[in-house]
Amino acid sequence: MTPESIAEWLAFYRDLGITEVYVRPSHAANPKPAPQPVADPRPEVLLPSLAPEGDTLESIRADIGDCRRCRLCQQRTNIVFGSGEPNAKIVFVGEGPGQDEDLQGLPFIGRAGQLLTAMIDNTARKEGIPVTRESVYICNVVKCRPPENRTPQPDEMEVCGQFLFRQLAVLKPKAICALGSTATKALLGTKEGVTKLRGQWHRWRDIPVMVTYHPSFLLRAYNESAKREAWEDLKKLFHSVYD
Ligand code: URA
Repeated sequence: MTPESIAEWLAFYRDLGITEVYVRPSHAANPKPAPQPVADPRPEVLLPSLAPEGDTLESIRADIGDCRRCRLCQQRTNIVFGSGEPNAKIVFVGEGPGQDEDLQGLPFIGRAGQLLTAMIDNTARKEGIPVTRESVYICNVVKCRPPENRTPQPDEMEVCGQFLFRQLAVLKPKAICALGSTATKALLGTKEGVTKLRGQWHRWRDIPVMVTYHPSFLLRAYNESAKREAWEDLKKLFHSVYD
């Protein structure tokens, strides 16, 4: 194995929540030293070891439990797991709950959520595609509201991202829509901005990912051209799945 393929392999297992790796003596370059676990940088964080065989949305929600794995638990009212059609062909991934979502325990129900609903329903209707908000699945990278709606921090994204990855692995959509830069970072592991990545196809594992602007960004009055671009992105997304 090359160092690059080992790094890729470790990143894959880290995505699944596995934070300890043992080197079998027969595979070790030097079998002399006893195999040591790779140290978990945050040993206080308890992660389920693997996306289990036969995983379901219910078991993922049960594993989240009354989560205390990161600081976001301190001010949340409700964990916002995700909602929608479990057999959805398309999954939308946002950043994290806002105030309305935190209070009601449902994703994208505030102003940004209403815009997202209108974008989904209106674009699909105009294009003659049988998609509505009810027919997709919607969730976020972090399941608890960041205080003052701040951007989730990398460790919060990493801990909660494992649950997002399990949700996506269970849902197996035909396409994923990453809304904004937090979802894009979590899914694609890139630092590139949304402006550069939007409108093109990327991949999470083997699932196509369309990157577009977050609806909160589109709510800002000066973003008329971004709104048009987001509509184009949704058209591309819907046609790719339903044509
Ligand atoms: N913004 C998000 O990213 N997610 C929500 O659920 C609501 C607002």
